[in-house]
Amino acid sequence: MLHPICTYLLLGLIIALTPLTTAQCDRAILEEATAQFVATQTSGQISVFTALADNVEYTENFQPADINTSLLATALAIDNNRSLHDTTACATYTELIITDPAHPYVTGTQMRFTDNKVSRIDMIITDEGDWLFDAAGTLLYAQSENWDPIPEDQRDTREVIRAGGDAYLNLFNDPNVEVPRYVIDETMGTVDVFLNFGGENGLPDSHEFRLEGGKLRYVHTLTVMA
Ligand SMILES: *[C@@H]1O[C@H](CO)[C@@H](O)[C@H](O)[C@H]1NC(C)=O
Ligand SMILES: *[C@@H]1O[C@H](CO)[C@@H](O)[C@H](O)[C@H]1NC(C)=O
Repeated sequence: MLHPICTYLLLGLIIALTPLTTAQCDRAILEEATAQFVATQTSGQISVFTALADNVEYTENFQPADINTSLLATALAIDNNRSLHDTTACATYTELIITDPAHPYVTGTQMRFTDNKVSRIDMIITDEGDWLFDAAGTLLYAQSENWDPIPEDQRDTREVIRAGGDAYLNLFNDPNVEVPRYVIDETMGTVDVFLNFGGENGLPDSHEFRLEGGKLRYVHTLTVMA
């Protein structure tokens, strides 16, 4: 018979290993969900978003919010959208740029999936008054950049991509940074990191990094000040 402590350790080991083997999602399902997300933001109609789980958790700038009265439920004229699809973590990230002079926004949204449905949405919303906010300038940069898929034989591993972002953020050395949330897309060589800058009550922040051949190519940041 196993000693109770051994049984406990064994169980712990099994639980620790489980996510490695089960957290795999179909890219097509993730892509359909990000397309629905963009369509929902365009129309402001949550009912368009059939990929949503019934009890989806929704936050804006890391605060719980009611999805039915959220920014997502507000029709916006989107100038640019770009998404990452993480088939290992079952997660996505979408950047939207809205230059409408009536109210410009740049938003970054991470979505998490359970049983192929969107079970959690975290949206970071920047607008006038936020750090270096300039939607028109952001659009110009985004349009001049090349975010094409990286040729298959030149792709970095998730570990290399993630380490590139971590090194830039200096996460290992900064005790004030909250546990970050990652979305990694190897086909794009890109990682997006959501974190609180400056500890638990710090600023909601998104940092997105594209690496090419292990080297940093682009950095997109969103930091909410107001
Ligand atoms: C939002 O509206 C839908 C459809 O009317 C409803 O099923 C859902 O419970 C509402 N969500 C919240 C958080 O109120
Ligand atoms: C989203 O971006 C794709 C290309 O990247 C484009 O084809 C599509 O029209 C965009 N959708 C909206 C609503 O802007």
